[in-house]
Amino acid sequence: MSGIIFFKTANLSAAKEFYEGVLGMKLWKDQGKCLIFQQGSMKLGFCEGEVSETSGTITFVYDSATEVDERYARFQKIATGKPEYSEYYKIYHFWAKDFEGRSLEFQCFMQPEQQVKVNTSLDILNPDKSKPKLLLTRMIPENAVEKLKQLFEVHANTAPRNLSKAELLHQIPEMDALLCLLGDTIDKQVMDAAQKLRVISNYAVGYNNIDTDYAKSRNIAVCNTPGVLTESTADLAWALIMAASRRIAESDRYVRRGKFEGWEPLLMLGQDLHQRTLGILGLGRIGEAVGRRATGFGMKILYYSRTEKSPDYSATKVDLETLLRKSDILSIHAPLTDETKGLLGARELAMMKETAVLINTGRGPIVDEKAMIKALQEKRIFAAGLDVYAQEPFIPQELLDLENVVLLPHIGSASFATRAAMGDMAAENAIAIVKGKQPKSRIV
Ligand code: DGY
Repeated sequence: MSGIIFFKTANLSAAKEFYEGVLGMKLWKDQGKCLIFQQGSMKLGFCEGEVSETSGTITFVYDSATEVDERYARFQKIATGKPEYSEYYKIYHFWAKDFEGRSLEFQCFMQPEQQVKVNTSLDILNPDKSKPKLLLTRMIPENAVEKLKQLFEVHANTAPRNLSKAELLHQIPEMDALLCLLGDTIDKQVMDAAQKLRVISNYAVGYNNIDTDYAKSRNIAVCNTPGVLTESTADLAWALIMAASRRIAESDRYVRRGKFEGWEPLLMLGQDLHQRTLGILGLGRIGEAVGRRATGFGMKILYYSRTEKSPDYSATKVDLETLLRKSDILSIHAPLTDETKGLLGARELAMMKETAVLINTGRGPIVDEKAMIKALQEKRIFAAGLDVYAQEPFIPQELLDLENVVLLPHIGSASFATRAAMGDMAAENAIAIVKGKQPKSRIV
């Protein structure tokens, strides 16, 4: 037996856009005047016209606090509050609103044994009460962990998943130092719970996951890992440039599906790179390294940047519109800030050539993901190569369905040597702050 709760709606297509597009439910049945969506055993129907309208909250139930946190990371835009634990109901939950203002609740039941599980997920790697305490939110290469153990008592999340917000909040009060990932949101709430904290060392060059203004006001140092990941990330940007322009991933899928029946004059035609124009959005270290590789292809290089740069090759500074209109490949390397968030929206994407390829190894929210999907669906740009997304790890189904996009799981810096070097730098940064020395890279 299965059940469906039906709701009356004034706008079936908005219901589809929201429940399928935003929440990621599957369209189970399209009955014309009635759409039924499914996720696990849950079915929700939205109908135009005569239905016995059900009002009330739509509750999505998950098995763990981590899953609720993951939903919060994906659905922050529609959330009306942050996830919190309700002692009264023994649930961990947050609220959101759907496209017609209905209340949505995302929750998990916290049984006593689950509460214990949430609260004891850390291993103390080298118990030594005389040392300052460092919270390591996820295991990083061994060389770095060994370095950390020399100065700190290391409390490490050894599970193969990120800590939930609830777990982070539970563990942070005792900590003198934090070594975290770009997927850990270190906001006011976390810092307020961390009265002893002296340093937040991010295992990344980007630090948009940290409220640096608040850290500064609290006199907590924030450090990152620039430099050591430049070349690996530039290599990966090039892997995407080549893959998206010459339809490598699509061709691989084609061969594996048994479709290759011999050489064909019009099979998998793509875009050339040699002698074309590479546009670099953000000519920092990584953008510059991407440009250097383009000289080997005889490409013309344009860049858009707030300041004039002088790379050791020929590159022309242009305004954003010129960059968009002239580039055959547009590669994003700007940091995510208030100014760059949503910098490429529908209007900007419409300025790109129909033959252009968009590459993003920077941060997802710099591009309006919905507008990009539309441009790719309508073939208003040729292809995209993406390593980053608007709400990681969530990737909209429409993007997964597209052939003209190459999708990677945020692996720009993921080489053995680079991840080890990032570990060294992140560990040394944390150690330097606690020893009262100058770290290699400090943001505030
Ligand atoms: C960073 O460091 O910011 C990258 O996105 C991951 O290496």
